[in-house]
Amino acid sequence: MLQPAKTDGDTDWFVHDRFGLFIHWGLYALPARHEWVRHHERITNEQYEKYFKRFDPDLYDPALWASAASGAGMKYFVVTTKHHEGFCLWDSDLTDYKAPNTPAGRDLLVPMVDAFREKGMKVGFYHSLLDWHHPDYTVDHIHPNRDNLAEREKNKERNLALYREYLHGQTRELLTRFGKVDILWYDFSIGPSDWNEGKGKKEWGSEDLIKTIRSLQPGIILNDRLQIDQDVKTPEQFQPREWVRVNGKPVVWEACQTLSGSWGYHRDEESWKSVDQLVKMLVDSVSKGGNMLLNVGPTGRGEFDARALDRLAGLGRWMHHHSRSIYGCTQAPDEFVAPEDCRYTYNPVTRRLYLHVFSWPYRHIHLDNIGDKIEYAQLLNDASEIKILRSVPEAAYGSMVEERSAATITLEIPVKKPDVTAPVIELFLK
Ligand code: GLC
Repeated sequence: MLQPAKTDGDTDWFVHDRFGLFIHWGLYALPARHEWVRHHERITNEQYEKYFKRFDPDLYDPALWASAASGAGMKYFVVTTKHHEGFCLWDSDLTDYKAPNTPAGRDLLVPMVDAFREKGMKVGFYHSLLDWHHPDYTVDHIHPNRDNLAEREKNKERNLALYREYLHGQTRELLTRFGKVDILWYDFSIGPSDWNEGKGKKEWGSEDLIKTIRSLQPGIILNDRLQIDQDVKTPEQFQPREWVRVNGKPVVWEACQTLSGSWGYHRDEESWKSVDQLVKMLVDSVSKGGNMLLNVGPTGRGEFDARALDRLAGLGRWMHHHSRSIYGCTQAPDEFVAPEDCRYTYNPVTRRLYLHVFSWPYRHIHLDNIGDKIEYAQLLNDASEIKILRSVPEAAYGSMVEERSAATITLEIPVKKPDVTAPVIELFLK
């Protein structure tokens, strides 16, 4: 069985829990057309100010967010403390560009952390390394002011070292004011362009930053976007084809996924994934030894919108019966190769193998290489027995006598697909 090497952070709980909620919430909820709206539309600080003046999430009740997430089966959450726009959800001493100075009038992060902890969920902070609002953050090729040559010229007067100090100072605040923080999720390092070097570990001071982080929160899980790999790799908006590796070695990984292609609340985005698709993405991740961090972008009034709540509720319905095939599970040992349209997950403690059937076939599913290892099989949603056939009588028809090894068995499944998204057959190994 594949097992990533140990790193500094405590990933034991993380690879057990498998499923988390990402939250992207900031001023961009008001334009409601992508959290990169400043980049896309080249919006200046002055033009963006109108959203700061109007940010008033009067319906914000983080207890409702935490219930929706926990009801979906999520075990941890990661929230944007600050996104690229630079706006801070907490009452930072190092800036005025923060929620308490908007009509919201208060720190929005403290009650969120409390509400999720109350539900037994682990706490994660996303923090943008980029900052399009900070005066000393230099204009690079993805900055909203990138086409303004006068602004680019002003880079000479900007002191990125002061921004770095700000970044380190804010990190210290986040890691000392909120109790135990389980995950710190930085975003991201910028490659070079033809007129700009980009920004990476040198600019962020990544090595020093990591030392500070490890001393303040020893067990914390750190991602890979400081340009120095730490505890977890974070493929974004795609499903890896196999267990993610670095230098050929399997690592802890987490796919981060949107519900609709935008991370921030996007009113008019129509490419919402279905519950069926989302369940399969979660299963697919675990079947390759990974986690899924699924994002919601709350509205400017402070709510998860109906589309997001619908998806979370659907995931919750599936998890109610099937979380046993997710929590504590990982990729199955190599000898078990899932049949067509199926995914295996495996719980090494209970020694149960979970066969997720993505497309329900007619009457039979044939499994290779398992004949002498399997003891019992049942549908997970209702614990109804699934018969294990050592041969398929109907196959001995005319000249169609099937030759099979004792290692192959056939599961006799009901003709009618159980009324759940992605049915699971639980296989008890000897
Ligand atoms: C990106 C984007 C972004 C999002 C993030 C989530 O790199 O900058 O807006 O926050 O990925 O993984």
